[in-house]
Amino acid sequence: MERTFLMVKPDGVQRGLIGRIISRFEDKGFNLVAGKLVQVSKEQAMRHYAEHEGKPFFDSLVSFITSGPVFAMVWEGDDIVTLSRIVIGKTKVTEALPGTIRGDFAAHTPFNLIHGSDGPESAEREIANFFEDHELVAYSKSIAPWI
Ligand code: TYD
Ligand code: MG
Repeated sequence: MERTFLMVKPDGVQRGLIGRIISRFEDKGFNLVAGKLVQVSKEQAMRHYAEHEGKPFFDSLVSFITSGPVFAMVWEGDDIVTLSRIVIGKTKVTEALPGTIRGDFAAHTPFNLIHGSDGPESAEREIANFFEDHELVAYSKSIAPWI
C-alpha cells in the first residue's frame, strides 16, 4: 500500500471542481486518508515546488498556488503514485488526453487543476509539508482490492 499527496489547485476550487475531482479517485477505488482546505503561504509553496526553483515558471507558479485556497489531500492505494498521475493526465493541457482530469477540465497551463506527487519520496515530503501525522486516518474498507 502506497500513499500520495494530491491537491486541488486554486483554479479547481474556484471552479467548484473539488467534488468531481475527488470522485475520480473514489471511482478508481483509492482510500481518502486526509483532506482539508488550505490557504498556502509563500514559504509553504516554495517548499512544495522546491525542485522547480530557478526555472522560468517558478515565480508565477508560486503566485498561482497562493492566489486562493487549495484542497490538500492524502490518498492511499496500491501503486497510487503512478496510477493517480495517469488519472490526472499530462502536465501541459495541450498534451492531456480526454478521460483524464486535466484533459477533461483544464484548458490553460499552468491552470491544470490538480497536483499529484511524482514519486514515493516526494509524496512523503509533500505530505509532511501539509499534514501532521495525527491528521492521517488509516482505515480499511473491508472489501477485496479489485472492487
Ligand atoms: P511539474 O512538476 O513538471 O508538473 P506536474 O504538475 O504534472 O507534476 O510542474 C509543476 C507545475 O508547474 C505544473 O503543474 C504546471 C507548471 N509548469 C508550467 O507552467 N510550465 C512548464 O513548462 C512546466 C514543466 C510546468
Ligand atoms: Mg510535479
